[in-house]
Amino acid sequence: MDQKVRVTFGTKLGIIAATAGSAVGLGNIWRFPSQTAQDGGAIFVFVYLACVAFFGMPIVLAEFILGRAGKANSAGTYRNLAPGKKFHYFGYFAIIAAFLIMGFYMVVSGWTMEYLALSITGELGRTQDFAALFDQLRNSPGTQIFWMVVFMISTAGIVAFGVKKGIELASKLMMPLLLLVMIILCIRAVTLPGAGEGLTYLFAPNPENARSAGARILTDALGQSFFSLSVGMGCLMTYASYFGKDVRLAKTAGTMATLDTSVALLSGVMIFPAAFALTTDPGSMVETLKTGGPGLVFIAIPQLLQSLPAAQLWSIFFFLLLVLASLTSTISLLEVITAFVHEEVRVTLPKPIRLRKSSTENTVLHQEYRIARPFAVTVISAGVIFLGVLCSYSLGADTSLVIFGLNFFDFLDYITAKLMMPIGGIFISLFAGWYLDKKILAAELSNAGTIPLRFFKTYRFILRFVAPVGIAVVLVCGLIG
Ligand code: PFF
Repeated sequence: MDQKVRVTFGTKLGIIAATAGSAVGLGNIWRFPSQTAQDGGAIFVFVYLACVAFFGMPIVLAEFILGRAGKANSAGTYRNLAPGKKFHYFGYFAIIAAFLIMGFYMVVSGWTMEYLALSITGELGRTQDFAALFDQLRNSPGTQIFWMVVFMISTAGIVAFGVKKGIELASKLMMPLLLLVMIILCIRAVTLPGAGEGLTYLFAPNPENARSAGARILTDALGQSFFSLSVGMGCLMTYASYFGKDVRLAKTAGTMATLDTSVALLSGVMIFPAAFALTTDPGSMVETLKTGGPGLVFIAIPQLLQSLPAAQLWSIFFFLLLVLASLTSTISLLEVITAFVHEEVRVTLPKPIRLRKSSTENTVLHQEYRIARPFAVTVISAGVIFLGVLCSYSLGADTSLVIFGLNFFDFLDYITAKLMMPIGGIFISLFAGWYLDKKILAAELSNAGTIPLRFFKTYRFILRFVAPVGIAVVLVCGLIG
């Protein structure tokens, strides 16, 4: 597979920005607070942090190692590292996961665009009841589909340009600005009168709050950690295939995971104090949060923004950054599938060739063509839009789109984040820990012996036993508990 000509990311900062750009997105700012609220606060947060540290981070590193060593899309990487074996089927599983995630992720990305538009027109500032505003959007498939399509076209445009130009630039600009605005909003939120209760809810474990969630907290936290880190489905593997040979993989994994987790916690510090401080009924807040679902961020944040001077400007700025944060994640999701289609799928077209000048008959030869990136991007985008349309309809009054008791939107979220990604994680750690040649593992971690190899045995032990067994136990306990 194109080993010599494979494009690489331009700079080290570009690599951090692109991987963190994939990780930091709606998973941190929208999904983390919603899950925390549904599961009753601090206990969920601590289980989530443990999952990041013990399972998520080691597997991020494993994906980096496999991706850079295999130098291809997620299926091609397995084929290059294990020729003649069937492991590449697992790459297909990852591609399907990416596709399904895009289906519901695009819808939420569309919501961020609607809120940006409402900020620009000033309508958000004139709103009194933010819960009603969100409900209205949830029940308007037309508006949701419009913004989702706009978002899909923007993502497709960037991915069609290829790796360096699009992805790096978008990520490098967005990340620092997003952090800055979030820190400012956090300061505002924690200085509101009554904010303390929100912080207590987020950081002081209270079994009473978590009782109704029970063992579900385990699967929820595990799923959230994988979803947020973009790990377990070949996305980071695909990005790592574009890493140059001097990139320090362990350091990059650490930086990326730290940034990602910090943004999630910042998002919590922004939302929960605001939600508690700005409610008219703090007494029932914990119960309200449990049923708040996906709307939490879109209700609490606009309210928080209104409490700032020059609210409209802040609002535009915040939602613009949220749009960009989602964009760097959707780019990475689309890139997983595009790299696969472009590199793996071949179309065979007949090519008529006249053999002899005098001959009237054409001999038909067959020639294999790769699918060009822009064409691949167009076809995948059409498929994602189809899924997104189903998701948008399933959120509103249409109750026919229900699978296993979940609406289609929640169903896609459930099977990808809570099942496919952790199962993918188990597979990746087993492959890197047991199958991959120890020498390759060591060479990738030490950049061919140029940097010291520390904790190698411990890391390999984690990959072989701790991560796969731990994830399996957490998953099973959460599902049957
Ligand atoms: N990590 C992203 C977020 O937190 O928003 C979502 C995501 C991106 C998941 C890429 C998976 C992925 F491959």
